[in-house]
Amino acid sequence: MLPSVKTVDFLVIGGGVAGLRAAIELASKGSVIVITKDRPTESTTGYAQGGIAVALSDEDEVCIHYEDTIKAGDGLCNENAAKVMVEEGPGYLLELMSWGADFDKEGSKLSFTREAAHTRRRILHSHGDSTGKEIERVLINKARSFPSILRYDFAFTLDLIVENNRCIGASVLKGDKIIHIIAKAVILATGGAGELFSRSTNPMISTGDGIAIAYRAGALIVDMEFVQFHPTTLYSPGAPQFLMTEAMRGEGAVLKNIVGKRFMPEYHEMSELAPRDAVTRAIVSEMVKTESRHVYLDLTHLERDFIKKRFPLIYTTCLQYNIDITEDVIPVCPAAHYIMGGVRTNLDGKTSIKGLFAAGEVACTGVHGANRLASNSLLEGFVYGARAGKGAVRYAEKIKERDIDKTPYNKHVTAAEEQSVTAFDADKTKSSLRQLMWNKVGIIRCEKSLRSAKNRLNKKDFILKETFNNRKGAELKNMLTVAGLITDAALFRKGSVGAHYRSDFTERGENWRKHTVCVKGEKTGWID
Ligand code: SIN
Repeated sequence: MLPSVKTVDFLVIGGGVAGLRAAIELASKGSVIVITKDRPTESTTGYAQGGIAVALSDEDEVCIHYEDTIKAGDGLCNENAAKVMVEEGPGYLLELMSWGADFDKEGSKLSFTREAAHTRRRILHSHGDSTGKEIERVLINKARSFPSILRYDFAFTLDLIVENNRCIGASVLKGDKIIHIIAKAVILATGGAGELFSRSTNPMISTGDGIAIAYRAGALIVDMEFVQFHPTTLYSPGAPQFLMTEAMRGEGAVLKNIVGKRFMPEYHEMSELAPRDAVTRAIVSEMVKTESRHVYLDLTHLERDFIKKRFPLIYTTCLQYNIDITEDVIPVCPAAHYIMGGVRTNLDGKTSIKGLFAAGEVACTGVHGANRLASNSLLEGFVYGARAGKGAVRYAEKIKERDIDKTPYNKHVTAAEEQSVTAFDADKTKSSLRQLMWNKVGIIRCEKSLRSAKNRLNKKDFILKETFNNRKGAELKNMLTVAGLITDAALFRKGSVGAHYRSDFTERGENWRKHTVCVKGEKTGWID
């Protein structure tokens, strides 16, 4: 059966904060399709607990938020991008509140919490620890209010359609049908790649799809070695790797090793509120020293009622595993959480491919540098989602309406029909890939571990050459693609900066101020 062709002004791939905010920006300028590969509410945004960092409190200033962001980024932030984010962020948050977002208050004033590496209380939160859900709810409702926005849920993007370095749409799998959606501009907002690691805070949909399809299309992919590992996720037999928000430490929780000794003051002057990469490595060091698979997070010294009110989701989730966080210490261990690298964009979301824009975790604007400041990602999603929307409008206004020539799309039809025949067990391959990435390309890496990962990945190269028209196969191919990019970049950066830590190169190394870049068909290199 031939794929169908659908035309639209703007195609947005991804339905988290960046994608929805972009779609809202586009809604008055033309027709918009928003694609999500799962349920509309299933995005990393929806899982965010701690909150959203924004300089709106009386004790805060935009310039202090900027300084904290730059410091956490460990010398690799794009300073202009960070400045834009902290300056424009407050306006987007006030707008969100005018659309009905309900953030927690103390009396009539907004309540702000603290998280690691913030020198001020500046994190807005909702229903205690369900901030992402509230943001997603308001954005979904807002997007629904525009008749020009059409949603395609459970629609998986197989590849971008690119002609002469111009993106003109995407091939999308919906049910068992392939649709070629042709658009004047495409915005990638597919989120991250946490699912590549066997320990991850991300939902299962975070398989790096956007980075993989942009790479296959020839886009510049930068800083892939910078994977952030969240220090504290639940570690208990049979329990999910549930996030224990950093806001718990912001409210006074402390970390103890398995013999009950508080250790962070020995590692960093900011103790439990040190930057995330420092806390994660300190935990690993204590786990090694004590030959344990976890440490403990302890907030039992805080008021019981306060804990239950402030962290209701965590309280009820832990109770299901017989941990009463008001009385018991919580076994925790780090897990992959966020990728700072991604598809390189400028401040308007433009990628290196004409007509292709990117925003949110899939993109690398450079705001996070080598280590993201906690709770800056939702803010980035708002600011750069809207900016990518505006950038796409400007781009679309300049290009002429195109005649739809069936020929190029038919190329993809044929490709999709020539589906793979090689037999392999996708579930097993995925599971061993996740173990490999955690063990060899995880929190602490070295030449030997990375080379051994690379050799194992090379053995799966045949999967990268296959064409899939089913979600499972295509996702696995994307995961293997992104795993290769992370491993190559981690091998290439012979030094330790931010979240990228090499036990064989503990100093920053040559060229450390540059960014790594991967382009299809070329060796990993440096870029300014
Ligand atoms: C958390 O709540 O600890 C996660 C916040 C973030 O990653 O920005």
